[in-house]
Amino acid sequence: MKAPEIRQKFIAYFKKQEHVVVPSSSLVPDNDPSVLLTTAGMQQFKPYLLGHLDPTTRFRARRLTSVQRCFRTSDIDAVGDASHLTFFEMLGNFSIGDYSKAGTIRFAWECLTKTFNVPKKRLWVTIFEGDTRTVKDFEAFKFWQEYVATDRITSFGRSENWWGPPGTSGPCGPSSEIHVDRTGQPCERQSNCRPNCPCGRFLELWNLVFMEYFQDEAGAFSDLPTKNVDTGMGLERLALILQDVPTVFETDLFAPIIRVAAQSGAVPAGESHLERTTHLRIVTDHLKAAVFLVADGVRFSNKDRGYILRRVFRRALDQLTYPLAAWPPIAAAVIDRYQQAYPFLAEQRSMITSALTEEAEGFLRHIDTTLKRVTAKDSRLSNGSGQTKRLTPEQAFTLFTTHGTSPARLRRAGFNFDEKAVKLKIEEHRRRSRAGAAKKFGGHGLGGYALDASRFKPDAVARLTRLHTATHLLQQALRTVLGSHVRQNGSDITPERLRFDFTHPTKLTAEQLAAVENLINQQVRRDLPVSWQELSPEEALQAGALSFFRERYPARVKVYSIGDFSKEICGGPHVKRSSEVGRVKIISEKSSAAGIRRIKATVEP
Ligand code: ALA
Repeated sequence: MKAPEIRQKFIAYFKKQEHVVVPSSSLVPDNDPSVLLTTAGMQQFKPYLLGHLDPTTRFRARRLTSVQRCFRTSDIDAVGDASHLTFFEMLGNFSIGDYSKAGTIRFAWECLTKTFNVPKKRLWVTIFEGDTRTVKDFEAFKFWQEYVATDRITSFGRSENWWGPPGTSGPCGPSSEIHVDRTGQPCERQSNCRPNCPCGRFLELWNLVFMEYFQDEAGAFSDLPTKNVDTGMGLERLALILQDVPTVFETDLFAPIIRVAAQSGAVPAGESHLERTTHLRIVTDHLKAAVFLVADGVRFSNKDRGYILRRVFRRALDQLTYPLAAWPPIAAAVIDRYQQAYPFLAEQRSMITSALTEEAEGFLRHIDTTLKRVTAKDSRLSNGSGQTKRLTPEQAFTLFTTHGTSPARLRRAGFNFDEKAVKLKIEEHRRRSRAGAAKKFGGHGLGGYALDASRFKPDAVARLTRLHTATHLLQQALRTVLGSHVRQNGSDITPERLRFDFTHPTKLTAEQLAAVENLINQQVRRDLPVSWQELSPEEALQAGALSFFRERYPARVKVYSIGDFSKEICGGPHVKRSSEVGRVKIISEKSSAAGIRRIKATVEP
């Protein structure tokens, strides 16, 4: 079954169940500062889910259904495997205070097994297993038993079977997922091969969220005025199952675009088949995302949505041998393939093309100038046109860390170097900058980290503690002023000053620096309480805490909050109230590596 028919059949099924069909909203959410882009079908219904608006006034119904275009960066590093994407379409049905768990489960089961004829024996389900905050979802378990054998109903904790809120606060609740068994064969890696097994046997297909709670900025739950249902099933994944192909890239939503990309000789010919395949998949996914983002009004910039668009488009260009010539036919193929379902793409074809062209030209010019400057500086590299230019691993490494010129791009620009050696250097550099920052006071993020106070006199310790709290204020102030792409990249604190490295592509203007400093000092004056609680890393991230070394967290972490302003996973120590920090002064701002800025700041004596 082809994608247009899948969309149509899904909508028809829920229409028959008395749902009102609501068109997809834009990728740029309307009036919702808690998120940058639309990541789920529920987003446009948030005011109704929260009880702020009555759905019957606008839709004359409490049952809604949609095919929502979505964009997420959470899985960006997995793009290229069988099923992960940045841009995708979500098939969803919603109940705002109407049917609950029994109805949701019955509809999903009927829709999959009757409308789409997915064999019942291939379906497994998961439910929320409960934890210290919320009990196990016995109800969902009971309703599923009507359809699915008990040994195919498994339960998982909050990290798998809890959804939301998207962004910093909003509706959320336990979820129940339907997974498809793709092989029928348990893997050998794990005796208990079941949904979420890393072997890839199961494909997560449909997420049914029982949205009953509101989570506030501080992570506290309260009941929503109505018990709601929010479901989402990836169109691309359902197409994979119904078209019986190994990955989403072989479905009709990708295959014609991939074909254009492959024919245009877009990716390096010399690489292995697997590498070429991965390049082609990333390119098509990312260009599709860029086309839709531009069509929905996002413009290239160094902030917020514009920055996300820039990153995803540049990543696409980075996969291509001849980026300037190769991307236009692929983007055109995206528009051709999608214009029937999304007529605004064809209407905006020339605008989309010129926005992307301008960005591609600017970016490639920058890379070119950098490479020319490097070759001109070093006469050994400019050994005549057309010939391969040889770089030492150090030179290639420096180009990467200072100009963001990836090894792949250097290779495609005709440079030759010991790739293994460069890769090792880059890995070592990443490892060292992380370990270095972690070791230092204020490395943040390692639960249980304690200041080795014996090395410092008490007044020095007091200053270190004030500067440490100032670092948290600084990170949040940077995110507020520059955008949520700002993340800590390293931190070093001495009794004299703090040093904070963070992701941001360009130099800060004097106005931006002043705004950051003012915002910090405002929080100091507010005399906010500094408090901490101990949570599991999942709970901490769910609660919106900023993290630094995500992969190395112990089972319990401390989460420090400065009033309503900042929340970070961190071992401490910190001052008790923000006023103890004293006046903060930024003393310098400069580049520390490609895409990384460094700020130094002091506190008053
Ligand atoms: N909102 C839920 C999700 O995105 C359905 O998975």
